[in-house]
Amino acid sequence: MAPRWSPDSWRTKPIEQVPVYPDGAQLAQVEQQLATFPPLVFAGEARELKAKLARVAQGEAFLLQGGDCAESFAEHRADTIRDFFRVFLQMAVVLTYAGGSPVVKLGRIAGQFAKPRSAPTETQGGKELPSYRGDIINDIEFTEAARTPDPQRMHMAYRQAAATLNLLRAFAQGGYANLEHVHQWNLGFVKDSPAGHRYQELAEQIAGTLRFMRAIGLTADNAPQLRTTSFYTSHEALLLGYEQAMTRIDSTSGDWYATSGHFLWAGDRTRQLDHAHMDYLRGIKNPIGVKCGPSLKADDLLRLIDFLSPQDEPGRLTLICRFGADKVGNHLPALIRAVEREGKSVVWACDPMHGNTIKAGSGYKTRPFDLILKEVEAFFDIHRSEGTHAGGIHVEMTGQNVTECVGGAKAVTETDLSDRYHTHCDPRLNADQSIELAFIVAERLKREREERRLPEISIAAGE
Ligand code: PEP
Ligand code: CO
Repeated sequence: MAPRWSPDSWRTKPIEQVPVYPDGAQLAQVEQQLATFPPLVFAGEARELKAKLARVAQGEAFLLQGGDCAESFAEHRADTIRDFFRVFLQMAVVLTYAGGSPVVKLGRIAGQFAKPRSAPTETQGGKELPSYRGDIINDIEFTEAARTPDPQRMHMAYRQAAATLNLLRAFAQGGYANLEHVHQWNLGFVKDSPAGHRYQELAEQIAGTLRFMRAIGLTADNAPQLRTTSFYTSHEALLLGYEQAMTRIDSTSGDWYATSGHFLWAGDRTRQLDHAHMDYLRGIKNPIGVKCGPSLKADDLLRLIDFLSPQDEPGRLTLICRFGADKVGNHLPALIRAVEREGKSVVWACDPMHGNTIKAGSGYKTRPFDLILKEVEAFFDIHRSEGTHAGGIHVEMTGQNVTECVGGAKAVTETDLSDRYHTHCDPRLNADQSIELAFIVAERLKREREERRLPEISIAAGE
């Protein structure tokens, strides 16, 4: 039997990646205030998302999770949110069409503010200061004052998450998600992309389907599915004082839910079974995720699954695999086999970003688009040969035309990196690279769907 859980039971466990606040009393006061603020999301929505993820776990849907590595206070603008949402919808539409199954749309947004770091301090010009840990904790500027953790930033993050979520809800329900518009944007992409001819056929098929629906009288005016969408939010559950303050009892079920976002995950650096972050996640009833990197052994994974998802409820747990293009083949098959052997239900998602970060000659952290693709392709290949469902992708992306990852059809080169390198943490796919990735994954989903259908057709033909 697992020991009793409460939203603060993590406080008695060892903890990694924890900021040192100079004034503990002030921190406690801010956390107490936050605990009285309205929830950002409802338990009912988190349950709805879990049910959709259950379909992914059962091989009947696909998960698209993406957004900034780190949201920032400085870039909190309506057009940034709008452009992200537009690109995200464009990706979702091609994936839905090609896969012929629902796409669960999960943003890394409206709460993605806290970052784990590889070192607690950073040295520049002989000066050592605390590392930047995300805008909810400290400021990226390299001064003593900026880098000192400040609890008031949790208020800022909460307010920003609320405003971002408000706009996203309006976009999702208020007409911006109109399928006809999303398709027009995709046609624009196909026309402008140097690799556009490759995506022409898929885009044409979608256009044909939309024409057909119009012809039989199905339009955005009379079919809400054509003008609205469901969109959910997620972030890394790193800053547990903030998460605890936002953890509330759901009056319908009497269960505890995180209300800072619909889905929370633990990073690759904070998934130690007997530590604080795992303790926190095990007690909330939201759908949750764990990042799986090369250091995760199959036995440890099984223990984690039992700990986080003891009822083995489909949709509860997503394993976000981030091995690197050259390592995925060595690590993923053993994990899949262990999970299959024990008959556990999980969503398998591929994060092709965090295992493929390199330092360019100029000193910028970057990720080659080719390696990102390679890891995604390998992820699909492995699931295909294991007979399991490649459930989704998890990407760091933006709707802006940044130059952070090298490559893509409109190739960003190493010398371009300095032009528009805006990320507060890891390099993100820009708008074109994101849509290109979606088209390539879509082609793969379509191929696999057609292969699955072939036996049915030949049986029918033989009758
Ligand atoms: C992240 O998702 O930004 C991250 C830090 O990932 P990981 O925990 O996989 O390194
Ligand atoms: Co990142």
